[in-house]
Amino acid sequence: MYSADETRQLQQATRTLLKKNQTGGPDTKDLESLRDVLRFHEHRYYILNDPLIADVEYDQLYKALEKLELDHPKLVTPDSPTQRVGKGLTASFPAAQHLVPMLSLDNSYNSDDLLDFDRKARELTGLSEIEYCVEPKFDGSSISLIYENDMLVRGATRGDGVQGDEVTVNIRQIRSIPLSARFSEYGIQQAEIRGEVLINKKNFGKYNETLAEQGLAPLANPRNAAAGTLRIKDPVEVAKRNLEAFLYHVSYFSLVKGKKTPEAMQSHAGSLKMLWDLGFRSPEKEKKLFKNIQGVIRYCAEFESGRDDLPYEIDGMVIKVNDFALQDKMGMTSHHPRWAIAYKFKARQATSKLLNVEFQVGRTGAVTPVAKLEPVAVGGVTVSSISIHNEDYIKEKDLRIGDQVLIERAGDVIPQIVKSLPDARSGKEKKIHFPKNCPVCESILFKEEEEAVWRCVNLDCPAQVVERIIHFVSKDAMDIRGFGDANVRKFYELGLLKDVPGIYTMDFASIGKLEGFGQKSIDNLQKSISNSLTQPLYRLIYALGIRFVGETTAKTLARAVQHLLDFKNYSQEDLQQLEDVGPKVAGSIHHFFSNRENIHMLETLEKLGLPLKNDQKKTVNSGNLTGQTFLFTGTLPTLKRSAAEALAEEAGGQILGGVSAKLNYLVVGEDAGSKLEKARKINTVKIISEEEFLKLIGKK
Ligand code: IVH
Repeated sequence: MYSADETRQLQQATRTLLKKNQTGGPDTKDLESLRDVLRFHEHRYYILNDPLIADVEYDQLYKALEKLELDHPKLVTPDSPTQRVGKGLTASFPAAQHLVPMLSLDNSYNSDDLLDFDRKARELTGLSEIEYCVEPKFDGSSISLIYENDMLVRGATRGDGVQGDEVTVNIRQIRSIPLSARFSEYGIQQAEIRGEVLINKKNFGKYNETLAEQGLAPLANPRNAAAGTLRIKDPVEVAKRNLEAFLYHVSYFSLVKGKKTPEAMQSHAGSLKMLWDLGFRSPEKEKKLFKNIQGVIRYCAEFESGRDDLPYEIDGMVIKVNDFALQDKMGMTSHHPRWAIAYKFKARQATSKLLNVEFQVGRTGAVTPVAKLEPVAVGGVTVSSISIHNEDYIKEKDLRIGDQVLIERAGDVIPQIVKSLPDARSGKEKKIHFPKNCPVCESILFKEEEEAVWRCVNLDCPAQVVERIIHFVSKDAMDIRGFGDANVRKFYELGLLKDVPGIYTMDFASIGKLEGFGQKSIDNLQKSISNSLTQPLYRLIYALGIRFVGETTAKTLARAVQHLLDFKNYSQEDLQQLEDVGPKVAGSIHHFFSNRENIHMLETLEKLGLPLKNDQKKTVNSGNLTGQTFLFTGTLPTLKRSAAEALAEEAGGQILGGVSAKLNYLVVGEDAGSKLEKARKINTVKIISEEEFLKLIGKK
C-alpha cells in the first residue's frame, strides 16, 4: 500500500507535524497532510501490526486535526480519521439489499472430500489441473461493504443472503476498514466487498472479563461477540469492543466510463493483492497458491495444527479456483459457488446430556449453578462439568435437566453451553430450581435488584472461607506454593486451618501426621509460607479478594497509601480519585475497609509478620525507572521471566505486551525471536542484556 518512498515521506511529515504541534500547532494548510499521516499510522497499526509512532504521538496529531476541524467545520471530509466515531444512539438498522446475493459455501471435512471437489472442478472446466488459492475461513460475522467513487457508502450484515441490516455507523468504527480507498486507480467506480468481522482472542477474553466483573454471563465464542457487537445501537460502545475485519471477496464492481477491467480482477489472488494495496486487511499474507489439489490438502492440515497459535479464530480453510474466467465457467448453485469449498476443521462443538445441576458458593458468596454432563470430547478435552452462570442464563437458554445440549469450546475459551435442543425432549425433562438457601451454610440467599447473581451474605459460610483461603494462596495472589485447592480443603475440614491468618499459625506437627505429608513437603510448604511475607503490598491487596479489585486496581491501591489501613479513612469519593476506580469499585473497597472483622484480620496479619506498609515508594525512588517501559524476550541466563518482570515493576517500570515505539527497553535472553527483530527496526528501543538490566535497577 505504501512504498518505501511514501513511508519515508510520511515519516518526515509526521515529524514536521509533531514539531508544529509543539509551537503554534498545524493550520488549515496542514489539514490534508494531517489526515494522510493519521491514515498512514492507522494502517501501520491496524493492518500491518507494526506501529511507527507512540500512541501518545498519534493522539496528539489526532487531537490537532480534531481542533482544526472544529474551528473550520466546512473543511471536514467524510473520510477524515475523525469521522469514524459516531455519536449518540442509532435508532434502527434499515434493510439493505445486497448488490449480489451473499451465498454460502459448500463444506468438506477430509482429503477425500477435497479430491472429490477437485475431480468435479476438472470435469466442469475440462482441465487436467487447476490452480487453487487457499486462505483461512475466518470465524466471525460476514459483512458487505459498498464503495462508490472511492468512498465507503454502506456497510451491511449478511442477513438472509439477499437482504441484511445496514450497519454503516458501526462498520465505520472498525479501524481496519478504510473510510475511503482509491478504487478509481483501478478504473473501478463502484465495488461491493465481502469479508468477515471478528474479535481477536485477546480482546474477546478482555470483554468476557468485563462481563464477569459485572456479574454477567460470558459469551460462548468470539463469533457471537462479533455478530452481537455489529448490532449494538451505540457506536461509541461498538468502538470500545475493538472489532477487526478481513476482506476476502469482490462480489461486484462497475467501471468508470471508458475504463477496462483491471488486470488485478482476472484472478482471486489478484483481487486480494488489489484489496491489500488499497489498504484493506485482505488475507494477502495468509493465502497461498497451489498448482494442484495435493498442495492444498497439505496446507489445510498445516493451518489446522497451527490454529491455536493464531490471534483470531478460524474454523477452517477456503479453497477457491484462482482464475476468474474459470470461476465464471463453473458458475454456482442457488446455495453456493461451484468454484469454492470450505474445508472445515475438527468441530469444537459436541452434544451431551445435562444430567444434573450443582450449586457452588464462591469466595464473594456468589452462588453459581454448574451443569453436570455426560462426559463428552470437545476440541481435544473431555468435558463433564460446565458453569451455567446464573438464574437468568438458565431461563434465557431454557435449560432443563435431561436436555440434550450443544457445547462449544472455542480456542482457549472455557467450554460453554450454546443452547439446549428442545426438539430432542421426551417430556421427562425437569425444570431447574434455583435454591432459596445457601447450599453450604443454609442462610437465606439475597439478590440485588440490578444483579443477576444470588449471594450468600454470611461471611463465615465455610464455602466462602475456604474459597477465600484458596484465592489468598493462589499464584497471582500470595503465591504460596505447595498448598493447592485440595490441601486447603483438607486442612479446613480437619480443623487445622480456620481462616486466612491461620495460614501463618498452622500446626505442622499435626500436618506431618497426615497421610501423604513427608518432611520434604512440609519443609517446602513452610518455606513458601514464610517467603510470602516478603510479597509486595499489591499482591496482599489482590489476595484479600475484595470484589472488583483485580491485579491492576490492587497496584493502584498499593501506590496510593503509606499503610494499608490508611484506607479506613478513605471515603468513596476519595477512592474515586484513584485511576480507573469508578463508583462500583470504590463502593466495594469502602465496604471492605468499613468491616470490623476485615480490619481485625489485617491487624492480625500484620502482627504475624505481613508488612502492610507501602515499601514500593522507596524502591521507585531508588530504582528511578518510573514511567520506563520494559519487555522481556528469550530465556534469561539467571532470572525467570516473572521474576524479572516483578523486579522491573518494583523499580517503577511498566511491562508492555509487545514491541512498539512505546517500548524503552527490550531485555533479551537466549533464542530471542521476532520481538528482537522488530525492536531493531525501532531506533528508540534500547536492547539490553539481563546483566545490563540488573545494573539499571541497581541490583548489580
Ligand atoms: S468466500 C461467494 N472466503 O464462510 C463466496 N468466505 O460458510 C463467498 N467465510 O458466508 C464466501 N472466511 O461468511 C469466503 N476466506 C473466506 C471466508 C469466508 C469466512 C465465511 C463467509 C461465508 C461462510 C460460509
